Order: sequence, then C-alpha cells, then structure tokens
Amino acid sequence: MNSVEAKTRIEELSQTLWQHNYNYYILSQPSISDFEFDHLLKELEKLEAQFPEFALPNSPTQQVGGDITKNFSQVKHKYPMLSLGNTYSQEEIQEVDDRIRKSIGDEFEYVCELKFDGLAISITYENGKLLRAVTRGDGVQGDDVTANVKTIRSIPQQLIGNFPPLFDIRGEIFMHRKTFERLNNELKKELLEQGVDEDKIPERLYKNPRNFASGSLKMQDSKEVAKRSLDAFLYFVYTDENLCNTHAESLKLAESWGFKVSDHFRICKNITEVMVFIKQYDIERSKLSYEIDGVVIKVNEYRHQKELGFTAKVPRWAISYKYKAETAISKLLKVSYQVGRTGAITPVANLVPVQLAGTTVKRASLYNADEIERLDLYEHDTVFVEKGGEIIPKITGVDSSKRDLFAQKIAYITHCPECKTELIRKEGEAIHYCPNDSHCPPQLIGRMEHFISRRAMNIEGLGSETVAGLFHKGLIKSYADLFELSYEQLNGVEFELEEDAEGKKKKRSIKEKGAENIIKGIEASKAIPFERVLFALGIRMIGETVAKKLAQHFGTIEKIIAATAQEIAEVHEIGEKIAENLTRFFADEENVNLVMRLKEYGLCMEVVYDPNETRSSVLEGQTFLVSGTFSMSRDELKKLIERNGGKNVGSISKSLNYLIAGDKMGPEKLKKASDLNIKMISEEDFMNMISA
Ligand code: IVH
Repeated sequence: MNSVEAKTRIEELSQTLWQHNYNYYILSQPSISDFEFDHLLKELEKLEAQFPEFALPNSPTQQVGGDITKNFSQVKHKYPMLSLGNTYSQEEIQEVDDRIRKSIGDEFEYVCELKFDGLAISITYENGKLLRAVTRGDGVQGDDVTANVKTIRSIPQQLIGNFPPLFDIRGEIFMHRKTFERLNNELKKELLEQGVDEDKIPERLYKNPRNFASGSLKMQDSKEVAKRSLDAFLYFVYTDENLCNTHAESLKLAESWGFKVSDHFRICKNITEVMVFIKQYDIERSKLSYEIDGVVIKVNEYRHQKELGFTAKVPRWAISYKYKAETAISKLLKVSYQVGRTGAITPVANLVPVQLAGTTVKRASLYNADEIERLDLYEHDTVFVEKGGEIIPKITGVDSSKRDLFAQKIAYITHCPECKTELIRKEGEAIHYCPNDSHCPPQLIGRMEHFISRRAMNIEGLGSETVAGLFHKGLIKSYADLFELSYEQLNGVEFELEEDAEGKKKKRSIKEKGAENIIKGIEASKAIPFERVLFALGIRMIGETVAKKLAQHFGTIEKIIAATAQEIAEVHEIGEKIAENLTRFFADEENVNLVMRLKEYGLCMEVVYDPNETRSSVLEGQTFLVSGTFSMSRDELKKLIERNGGKNVGSISKSLNYLIAGDKMGPEKLKKASDLNIKMISEEDFMNMISA
C-alpha cells in the first residue's frame, strides 16, 4: 500500500469506527458484530503503526469507547475504567503468556472468568451503603445511573460482614435470555394493542439481551427500569489499602459482603488449563441463562499485576478471549412459508438437523424474498448457519461448490400457503402479504387474539394459545363465535399448540375450572365500553386513541357504519388513510354482520353517557357559547363542556367567558363578541383546555 492509499484507508476506517462506536454506545444498536468491529480496529492499528503521520488525533484506536448520554450527570471515575485487550486466537493467548512469563517468571497463576455480555458498571460503597453507580462512559467519566442501579435486586444497597469503609466495585449488568424473550414479546404485544401495525414492529425490538440491558439502564424512569429485571455479576474490587493478595481472594471477600459473584471462575496453573477452561465454556455457554461473549484471563496475584502494569489503554495482566459467533454447516431440505397474524409472509429454511450452540437447529429464518435472492439459494444447497447475538439462527452463506448439477433456484411463492390467495408486495417493501384478511386462518386467529387482549375486550381466562386451539378445533371462526361457546363445549377440549422453534407440538386441554373461567371472562367483557369494543374489532389503523375519538364523535356503531370516508376524515386529527380503512372494513357485509352479531350478544355499541359523570372540573365557574360547526356535533361539544365542569349559555353577554368559534359562524355573533371583548377560541384550543 502506498502512502496515499494508506492515508485514505486510515481516514475511511476512522470514520467507520466512529460511526460504529456511536451506534454501539449511544444508540445501543450495533450494526456490525464485535468480531467485525475488532477486525476493522486491528486493521487501523496496523496501518497507524506503519504510517503514524496519518493517524488522526482522535483516532478510534486511542479511545476506550464512550457511552455518555446527555440526560445523566457525569461523574469522574476514581480509578479509570479501562477495557481489556482482546483476541479471537489461541495463538495470541500463548503469545501473551510468553510475554508475561518473560516479565515476571513462572511463579504465578491465572484466574479465568466468564466475559459477561452486558454493560460495565462501577459502584462506590461508603460505610457499607451504595453511594453511587456510574457507567463506563469514556473510561474517565460516565453517567450517574445510581437510581436505576438501585432497582437491581442482586446489587446490595447495604453490605454485610467485614467490608472496607470506602471502595469501588466493578461488574457487569446484564439481562437473562428468558427475561429478554419475555419482555420483547410483552413490548411487542403492547405496541400491537396500541394499534401499531404488526409489520411495522420488528421481530425483536431489541436485538439481543445486551442492548436491552443497556437501553434499560439508560431510561429516565427508575420505575420502568425496575420492571426490566436486570441482574449483575461483580468481578473487580478497587480499594486504596491492600485487603488481600490475590484477585481470587477478593472475589470471595466480595461475596462475603453480599455481592453476587459468578461461580464460574477457576484458578489455572498454566496456559493449558486456561485453554481447557476456554474450550469447556465454549460448549457450556449455551446452557447458561445469560449470554457471555468470551473468557477473561487475569493474573491472580496483585503484586504481579502491579509489576506488569498497563499499556496506554489496557492492563498487561489481563486479556479477553472472545468466542466467535457459532457456525455450523447443514443442508437445505426445503423452504416453507409462514403466514403472520397480519398476513406478512416469512420464508423459513428447513434444514437437516445440526448441533449449534448447544441446541439442535432445524430451521433458520430467511426474512424475505430479497434475502433468498441475496444468498442465491438453490434447492438442497449446503448452507452455513450462524447463531450470533440474535437468538434465531440465520443462514449466512451458501457453499455453491457443493450444489447439485440440476438443482433449481428457489422460486418465491406467489400464493398464500394457508388460503391460496395471490400474494401482494407493496412498492418499496421487502415483505409479501396475503391480502385475504377476512378468511386467511392465521389472520383470523390474529384478529381474535387482538380482540381478547387486555387493552381491548380483556377476556380473562382466555389466552392466545387457547384461541388458536379453539379455532383449529373448529369451535370458533370469528370473535363473534366466542359469545356462543358453552361450558359443555369447552370442558375437556384438547388441542395442539403451534409448533415451537424446534418443530415440536405440545398438547393442551381445557379442564372444568378453565372452561368456567373462559365463560365468566366472556360474560364480563360485555361491560367493556364502546370505544374499546371498536378498538377490539381490529380494523387496520384504528388504535386506541382513534377508536376513542370515533366513538365520542359518532356515538353509535350505526353512525360509524353509515359515515362516509369524508365525514370520518373530517373528525379532529383523523386523516384520509384511517377513514379509508374504516369504510373499507364496513363495506364488507361480513364485517357488518359480525359487528351486528356482537351487538345482539350484548356488547356495548354506543357511548353511554352518565348524566352525573364529571370527567374533570377544569372548566369550573366558566361559561361557554358554542357557535358554528365543528368536527363533532354541537351537542357533543356541549356535553364535553358540562362534563368538565363548565356551563353552556345560549347568547352572548358581557359575562360570557369563552366563545368557541366553529366554521360558518354568523357574522353578527362575531361582531358582538369582538365588541364585548369576549375571548374567542377554536375547537382545538378547547380540546387542549380539557386535556391539559
Ligand atoms: S475485568 C481492567 N472481568 O469486558 C479489567 N471485565 O473488554 C477490567 N467484562 O469493560 C475488566 N466480564 O465490561 C472483567 N469477568 C470480567 C468481565 C469483564 C465482562 C467486560 C467489562 C469490560 C470489558 C473489557
């Protein structure tokens, strides 16, 4: 490489690495793997060593990384938070060992620990009380996240035993895999219940537990953090005076003060024992309830650590060995296609079963048609499967040299595998859809799941799996059918659950108590107010807020069904798209019939006004005159005034407080109001007054 090329490449690499640092530390959304990052960083380090004159002053090789965010106060670390040198190769570990031996001789031990994949935290304890918790930040100073850290149960707020009066302890905050899956699903469900389109929600809102943990710790509301069930392992004690002689002893001491210290550490006498530890956990790591991304190897004796010291950035007495994302080779059996609850199609690769990261992998996601194209996938291809930060395995490549001579290229399906309707692909989108939302089985089940959900009809005793089971048993085809179910029909029903990730189907049955609860839950749902029933219907784009607005404006389901798209679009803040979806839904006679059946079963299909209901008293003592036309009827508006403590009057006088001016207000009224200096407000101003 000549010097011009080197200069260009150094600048290019620096730019790229800055961006990835930002993605990683600030956004908590890395776009490349650690392995790729380290690879780029090493390339830059090498070039800078060769051409030091081109190294940029704030080169990524000079940084420890940074996760400082603007919403927390900054605290300087008493002991800088350094990172560790890392390697993916056992030869390099051997080289480090050689160097250490040259420097301090052979009389020492290593401690091997797991490298927890979370985020580093430094916690200061004063007289046994948790004083402050700070993130790593740029290594010199970090974010004060004390309030959030105090919500983590495994981090003691008060120590026990014989602890020093002031010390720092370092560790890793992380999220267990199970918690990650549960919270991701809950978050997704919540978004769905809020009316967000499923195809707008990624399969996993957070890519992996590390990102989720990091995102959680940076939340402003500690109450929310507490819900994230974070956990922590502590692994390094910093004190001014000597407490003990070795790192392993310090871990035992920390444990005796009440800290959670991982059991998975081992004193190793030599590098062979270190390698055994590395190998052992490469196999066992998939069985841990949390993710690790490597092993940290530390010289055990403090006096040796002191002797070895530090380079500019990292200690010479410790290094981390990082595991590569695990890959396996398998063969494609066939591509199958799953239909999601909104009709989105996901292609899935069915593979010859292969062991990967402790589990048997039989399938891998292919995401969409573009991905199949990108992989250039053919029938029976030999494929590379990888399990990286994400939990679902993916195909990273194809070994085309092993391809059968007559193998056909994978052709994407044109029709829905469930209902045979021709698929559509919206312009600019990668996903194919089945447009048959009223008859395609998974879409019907999806609508029923939404119908029974907590924010919609909140039918207790009935869950998604049961709904799907009842559908497959032929007991229900639509949400209206729920209201015809009897205890006798439900009691003793046995059904199969959908296939899990491993392709296994489990059985479930409804017993007496379960049947009783379902019937009770269905009956209780008849008290759910109209706006939630409207939301429960699962009409595209009709989320909770829109349903509320529509219910308030039109008052009854009949008026909504009869409304034109234009009338709907004119309702405050409801646009044409929503109006179009709504009218399209009710243009289908089957949907109208369904809704009418629901009404017959006793569901609430109109707004019930309680004459005594006061929603608030924000308008107490104020008089209003309503004039002109509005997005809601004048009566509706007057009701809103009354329900918020205001008083309606029929004419303009000096004592009038507000004139709510709509469209087409008479000119005389306008003149009189301005002559008398009456405050004139718009419908929007008024809505703001009552929602403040
Ligand atoms: S010791 C000076 N031990 O890895 C030594 N670090 O790349 C300080 N980490 O920032 C670190 N598990 O966030 C240490 N058992 C362990 C660890 C560990 C995970 C993280 C830590 C650190 C990073 C270094």
